[in-house]
Amino acid sequence: MHLKPPHHFHLPEKFHIFSLPLFSRKDITHAVIFFSLFSILIISCNIIGPIQPGSLHGIGLYFSQFFPNNNNEHGVGKVCDYSVGQWVWDENYQMQKYTENCPFLDPGFRCRGSGRRDMEFQKWRWQPQGCDLPRFNASDLLERGKNRRIVFSGDSIARNQWESLICMMTQGVSNISSVYEENGNPITKHKGFLSIRFQEFNLTVEYYRTPFLVVLDRPPKNASKEVKGTVRLDKLHWYSSKWIGADVLVFSCGHWWNKGKTSKMGIYFREGESVNMTMDVMEAFRRSLYTWKSYVMEKLATQNSLIFFRSYAPTHYRDGTWDAGGHCDADIAPQTNRTKLEPEPLYNKHISNIVKEMEAEEKGVRFLNITYLSELRNDGHPSKYREPGTPANAPQDCSHWCLPGVPDTWNELVYGNLVSSGFGNELRS
Ligand SMILES: *[C@@H]1O[C@H](CO)[C@@H](O)[C@H](O)[C@H]1NC(C)=O
Ligand SMILES: *[C@@H]1O[C@H](CO)[C@@H](O)[C@H](O)[C@H]1NC(C)=O
Ligand SMILES: *[C@@H]1O[C@H](CO)[C@@H](O)[C@H](O)[C@H]1NC(C)=O
Ligand SMILES: *[C@@H]1O[C@H](CO)[C@@H](O)[C@H](O)[C@H]1NC(C)=O
Ligand SMILES: *[C@@H]1O[C@H](CO)[C@@H](O)[C@H](O)[C@H]1NC(C)=O
Ligand SMILES: *[C@@H]1O[C@H](CO)[C@@H](O)[C@H](O)[C@H]1NC(C)=O
Ligand SMILES: *[C@@H]1O[C@H](CO)[C@@H](O)[C@H](O)[C@H]1NC(C)=O
Repeated sequence: MHLKPPHHFHLPEKFHIFSLPLFSRKDITHAVIFFSLFSILIISCNIIGPIQPGSLHGIGLYFSQFFPNNNNEHGVGKVCDYSVGQWVWDENYQMQKYTENCPFLDPGFRCRGSGRRDMEFQKWRWQPQGCDLPRFNASDLLERGKNRRIVFSGDSIARNQWESLICMMTQGVSNISSVYEENGNPITKHKGFLSIRFQEFNLTVEYYRTPFLVVLDRPPKNASKEVKGTVRLDKLHWYSSKWIGADVLVFSCGHWWNKGKTSKMGIYFREGESVNMTMDVMEAFRRSLYTWKSYVMEKLATQNSLIFFRSYAPTHYRDGTWDAGGHCDADIAPQTNRTKLEPEPLYNKHISNIVKEMEAEEKGVRFLNITYLSELRNDGHPSKYREPGTPANAPQDCSHWCLPGVPDTWNELVYGNLVSSGFGNELRS
């Protein structure tokens, strides 16, 4: 494969994410009912379906300014852009990894267990153009992470990435019983907050479900009847106070910011007490990022913290949208036909713009750009191999990713950044 990112990776009038499937219509109905009960957590519990989603192109670029000592192999002044490259076939790649037996995987991501038999998708390794990703070393990351907290916040695709990192890290632990969920909770999509403790290292890897990053709330008292719920653009999710003191934060967002999950469900955008029934969803998303930015700058960006905003995770529904028979089960190899790639999602533009602004204020914030590399991996989704108990006529899941799988690469990018930024260097034995 000799793919290069298309030059025309910019946006179209209308792009496919608007038709994303995070959940079924029935779920949506449930969610609306619950809104009136002010049951914010429950809304996501009803997601049976596929979904949810986050960047670093600029990474390299910004990076060199933060970490002038970065001793990569490209020499001083050169920067590695992990976002561009190609998938190369590597028989050994999968052997170095965890397996589906990792106890921290939820059933929706265990594709083999759900009947998927083609396993070639696990043998592709991402090769950035012009430089190498450091090989992931679980023991090394555990050492660097001693007495630290790694936080993932976002929708179910963030959980997908979180589970991947935990399983990758358990490879560096000899006693698996010393790795556990702090509150004894099972790893499932039904929990809004999960924290895995690596006891020997006093390290936690935490997940917070925040589909919009900002607060999903009931309508203000004077709102019209049509308003069943509101996304409060000026108020970061209630969980945000828990992020204070974290050392590494990986944010992501996107799949819920579309009409299907907002206005079509009676959910409108709100600032203060006033609800704007006509605000465009992308404009709302852009505004919410400013709320995120202020909080990060004020409360989270400390001298040693590293904060990533992962770019949009693409979906691959062929021949129809998620709720109209769209499928990806015929895809068993990465995409080689560039003309079939989707244009760069508008989400990324907004995220990278804000990250640039923050970078200008000299904070350790990075855009983790995984969109292009993931766009090539139409073969990486659960498709029809969804978790046991999924009705046979349920839509395919071409949004989440099988594990082990593509999100491992996202975490390799995170690891590459931590290493080159010198994260935890003082703790390594
Ligand atoms: C993300 O990376 C791809 C591949 O390098 C690039 O085409 C795209 O412009 C990047 N996106 C942003 C917002 O920087
Ligand atoms: C992984 O990291 C550990 C701890 O830093 C180190 O001892 C080991 O040599 C590394 N392994 C590889 C393959 O680099
Ligand atoms: C464990 O890590 C936390 C930070 O995550 C720190 O506050 C605490 O002091 C550490 N405990 C020990 C015993 O080092
Ligand atoms: C493994 O960890 C568990 C939980 O901390 C502990 O009870 C057990 O003794 C450990 N086993 C070994 C062999 O160290
Ligand atoms: C509701 O009240 C707020 C101020 O409390 C006001 O800004 C807003 O316009 C009102 N909305 C409606 C629909 O009356
Ligand atoms: C709603 O938001 C849009 C921006 O998307 C703005 O143009 C419009 O004036 C707002 N409407 C009200 C009533 O504030
Ligand atoms: C690539 O995809 C386009 C659009 O689907 C198609 O027209 C073209 O024939 C494909 N090229 C190859 C080499 O398969």
